[in-house]
Amino acid sequence: MTTRPRILTGDTPTGRLHLGHYVGSLENRIRLQRDHDCYILIANVHAFTTRAQQPEDVRRDTIEIVRDQLAAGVDPSLATFVVQSEIPAIAELTFLLAMLIPFSRVMRNPTLKAEITSKQLGDHYSFGFPLYAVGQCADILAFRADLVPVGEDQAAHVEMTREVARRFAQVYGAEVFPVPEPLFGRVARLPGIDGVEKMSKSRGNAIYLSDSTDEIRRKMARLYTGRQSADEPGDPDNVLFQYARAFLPDPARVEELAAGYARGGMGDAPIKREVADAIDALVAPMRERRARFTDDAVLDLLREHARRANAVAGETLARVKDAMHLTFA
Ligand code: TRP
Repeated sequence: MTTRPRILTGDTPTGRLHLGHYVGSLENRIRLQRDHDCYILIANVHAFTTRAQQPEDVRRDTIEIVRDQLAAGVDPSLATFVVQSEIPAIAELTFLLAMLIPFSRVMRNPTLKAEITSKQLGDHYSFGFPLYAVGQCADILAFRADLVPVGEDQAAHVEMTREVARRFAQVYGAEVFPVPEPLFGRVARLPGIDGVEKMSKSRGNAIYLSDSTDEIRRKMARLYTGRQSADEPGDPDNVLFQYARAFLPDPARVEELAAGYARGGMGDAPIKREVADAIDALVAPMRERRARFTDDAVLDLLREHARRANAVAGETLARVKDAMHLTFA
């Protein structure tokens, strides 16, 4: 029996993890795994909302994202990886919960709306695309999570999940689901090295956890601050300083640099180099750990973890069906 508060979080596998993932949610998972019962979802079914034609890539990215997290410090003896497609209760729960939320409410979900715009889906998205938002409620509720560590872009999904959890209790008079709380990362939104957009693979502005020292230095050198000359006073809240605050370990050092920068006469280049070295120090141990997790090792682990995850989600589904008078056998 475990009485530790339970966490469910995860990602759609779209490629390797980058620094935005790290400060948004990954470092919280690693910090909380010891005193929480921690489930980390790989939303490979959701990946089909936009990549139904690339099943092999989705499979590869699923393995890769587990490897990235193991490398980053997720301990597989503490946390449980959940490959979404391996958990039938999630799919079943999605259908059942979809009855408790108006379609118009789903379509007003701001994260969903933003994705339709940013991915230029127009009105050509599949039926499954808006359904994924209900699926995300099912992911969280299947594990009866208390806490959902996510980036702020996921806030709307957690809010919808809270509504569904309350609605279920109201309609069926059963306390199956805790109303989960979101937990946001230390950095709300890390810009990419273009200095403008949020860091993301699709925008080509990401520094990956698997980048080499050289790549990190080169990308940091390219970080666009828009500053014309080292003589003019710099803005100590610009993108470079957002990176400095996110990655330099000593806050006093950041404030010392910020003061010099604001006075003028301090160039971007040495600060970029110092930040690059701090990022490199953060990811260096990840490089070493990554090498230890072969595909076979990852697949073995996922098999064992699917058993653990199915036990929890299966129990949830049984309680849900019981509350809904759907138990016949
Ligand atoms: N939508 C999330 C993303 O793209 C991934 C996700 C799916 C998730 N189900 C979840 C995150 C449940 C937290 C909880 O990053």
